[in-house]
Amino acid sequence: EQGILRYRGIPIEELAEKSTFVETAYLIIYGHLPDRNELKNFSDLLTEHQNIHEDMKYHFEGFPSTSHPMAILSAMINASGCFDLTLMKGGCSSQFDSHVAQLISQVRTIAAFSYRKSHGLPIIYPKKAYKYTANFLHMLFSQPYEDYELKPEVVRALDLIFLLHADHEQNCSTATVRMVASSQANLYASCAAGVCALWGPLHGGANQAVVEMLVDIHKSGDDGSKFITAAKDKNSGKKLMGFGHRVYKNYDPRAKIIKKACDEVLGSLDINDPLLEIAKKLEEAALRDSYFVERKLYPNVDFYSGIIMRALGIPVEMFTVIFAIGRMPGWIANYKEIADDTKSRISRPRQVYMGEPLNTYVPMSKRK
Ligand code: CMC
Repeated sequence: EQGILRYRGIPIEELAEKSTFVETAYLIIYGHLPDRNELKNFSDLLTEHQNIHEDMKYHFEGFPSTSHPMAILSAMINASGCFDLTLMKGGCSSQFDSHVAQLISQVRTIAAFSYRKSHGLPIIYPKKAYKYTANFLHMLFSQPYEDYELKPEVVRALDLIFLLHADHEQNCSTATVRMVASSQANLYASCAAGVCALWGPLHGGANQAVVEMLVDIHKSGDDGSKFITAAKDKNSGKKLMGFGHRVYKNYDPRAKIIKKACDEVLGSLDINDPLLEIAKKLEEAALRDSYFVERKLYPNVDFYSGIIMRALGIPVEMFTVIFAIGRMPGWIANYKEIADDTKSRISRPRQVYMGEPLNTYVPMSKRK
């Protein structure tokens, strides 16, 4: 009700201002802020594991160029587990720290490679000298003949997006990861399942859906008012994407941070995106409209994040992949909790069957 989000007790606003994605990932997975040595060791492990097995490149070849990067991401996370047999075992082994770093580091490499593949571009390998988010931008946008120019405000904006998505209690994908982990499936299999759950437009896919909605509104010449009317009509099949949340019934604190960052990034890159104007008008109109007010529907994290990513040059089909990279620490921490718990049992929801309690088999000739 109060719109509070904390990672391990630390307010999201404080982390957004003072921390980085890598430091926050450590905090979420290991439960405390790392000291200087711990952070260095963690960063070194991420760098050590940044390359995927060279043979993985052949797997990318098999996907048609029309493949959605989320499909490639979940398949490739599972496939990369096959290149290291120690990953195949469930639970937290002595190599768990290395597995964690491998997953966090390689998910970014896989995501960048899948983007390059789907655009017919040559693969760009990670650079040892670059930090996590800069390296991702480099793999996305550099060319073999020319390095992408890393602007600090761009790196910081993307790092902030990763950080804000890092964990969010028992959302659909995290609950999925826990469910799979409870069967003692391995870390990679559990997180690949999380990617699939995240993909849907009611969850992580909402950031893509928001920008597609804004583009449609812009193309149709609507100032947003027609769309608001349609979103209130249950028969229209439309929803105001990026609005509403199962838990937040006041304001999503991440949306506040993202909205401010959106203004700053577009300002410093001198970008005048008409979609930002439409988004602000939609927000203002919805916050005045009794339909949205009575139902406590406010902008969520996805409402402005897509506009930032658009400004950074990230294609819309990659938005949910960015969410998945950011959410990895939260999934891993939840996996670890299950795997560390010696009393953990397999998740097994029961069902209440509402059909005929007993029936007979009717031969085909006698069926209507
Ligand atoms: N636009 C129009 N009406 C809405 C919207 C919306 N975005 N969201 C909810 N409603 C209505 C809904 O139709 C229902 O109306 P009524 O009471 O008349 O039947 C009422 O508000 C309550 O909604 P609900 O469906 O019970 O809410 P929920 O908790 O089941 O769903 C939600 C939450 C986020 C799935 C939903 O608000 C939604 O579909 N939003 C748009 C998609 C979106 O932005 N998703 C990202 C969520 S945040 C990031 C993440 O976790 O992935």
